[in-house]
Amino acid sequence: MALRVGVVGMGGIGDTHAASHQEDSLADLRAVCDVVPERADAAAEKYGVKAYYSLAEMLDAKELDVVDVCTSGYENGSWHFEPVMEALTAGKNVLCEKPLSNDIEEAREMVRFAASQKLYLGCNLNHYFTPTAERARQYMDEGALGETLYLLFKMGFNGGEAGYSLNKSPRFNQPYAHMKAFLTHPLSVMRYFCGDITHLQTFATKPGFRKNQGDLLLSVNSVHVKFANDTVGYLLSHRGDAVWGLGGWWSVEVAGSKGTFCIENCVERLTYWPVPKPGTQLGLGEEAQPEVLDTGIKDFGQTFPNRIHAFLEDVTNEVPFEHLRASGRDALATLDYIFAAIESYESGGELVRPHSLPSLHGDPRVEQI
Ligand SMILES: NC(=O)c1ccc[n+]([C@@H]2O[C@H](COP(=O)([O-])OP(=O)(O)OC[C@H]3O[C@@H](n4cnc5c(N)ncnc54)[C@H](O)[C@@H]3O)[C@@H](O)[C@H]2O)c1
Repeated sequence: MALRVGVVGMGGIGDTHAASHQEDSLADLRAVCDVVPERADAAAEKYGVKAYYSLAEMLDAKELDVVDVCTSGYENGSWHFEPVMEALTAGKNVLCEKPLSNDIEEAREMVRFAASQKLYLGCNLNHYFTPTAERARQYMDEGALGETLYLLFKMGFNGGEAGYSLNKSPRFNQPYAHMKAFLTHPLSVMRYFCGDITHLQTFATKPGFRKNQGDLLLSVNSVHVKFANDTVGYLLSHRGDAVWGLGGWWSVEVAGSKGTFCIENCVERLTYWPVPKPGTQLGLGEEAQPEVLDTGIKDFGQTFPNRIHAFLEDVTNEVPFEHLRASGRDALATLDYIFAAIESYESGGELVRPHSLPSLHGDPRVEQI
């Protein structure tokens, strides 16, 4: 039976989620909710469901299995805690947009509470629910990369001086708004490929055209990391301060002792180069014969239905809580890295070790010794 879903927060992203649920055979979209009545009403009309102006009202009136939280707030995350906790308290499984919160303690509380209630808490870490990331992960699982050595991530919005205008909203004109609102995405992809980050160092800056307008945002973030598996890595992210270079709006290269892959433009292309066979020498400028997956997809929007389907699948299949893909705990890990990045930046680039994640409890029904 399809899961009965209610979506909270009917801005642009709530609309994308509602459309994904309505198209998905595992979901039965039952209700939409927004504290701004016109937004709730417009969405209700579009999707042919009932509108609610408060989550409490929606939870009272509708039998739901899943509440999908698409609110936003300061640094795009301060309005997540309240509805997530309210839905969990009412015994609902929750999918929450990223970042889990703009406050690390709130995020910890959400993850802790969901675990104590034995409910699923997922986060929309949609950037690795793509054919490119899936195939890249397969290369790794098959051993085609060997021992991973380094990871390089570059992610930025297309922009530059000419197209810049100051975002005056206090929700976004904050020093750490790009880090808190956005770095969850690249960091979640980095963790998906290379595991937990144990050491991190950050520098951040902004261009003169932002400074001249009194823009508070630290829009260019340079993050140097070491993973628990000894891989080293680097993330460069900016918020529309330059024009895309190679690889489109986001690219990641992961190199290992047996091969290297590079994902370009998030969903569009994956290239894999095996190391040369023994006895084969490649000169400088010569390339190992690559395998290329060109999906023909440029629209990043496809990541939403893919990720939402995975959540619905996991809840439908009642997977062990700790096997939930892109869980709240996974999102908490990225937030830990973000807060470590802020700490490092504030101390002039000192090395910071992210706080450890809450321990896993395990499930004796599926984990036999
Ligand atoms: N995963 C992605 O790729 C991606 C991309 C963009 C944005 N996002 C995230 O999606 C979220 C929503 O973004 P948006 O641009 O649609 O935001 P938005 O501000 O346009 O919309 C949020 C809506 O939530 C409503 N709202 C706030 N608190 C509420 C509450 N307690 N109950 C009911 N309604 C409430 C607001 O009235 C508003 O209509 C943000 O957290 C953002 O970070 C994710």
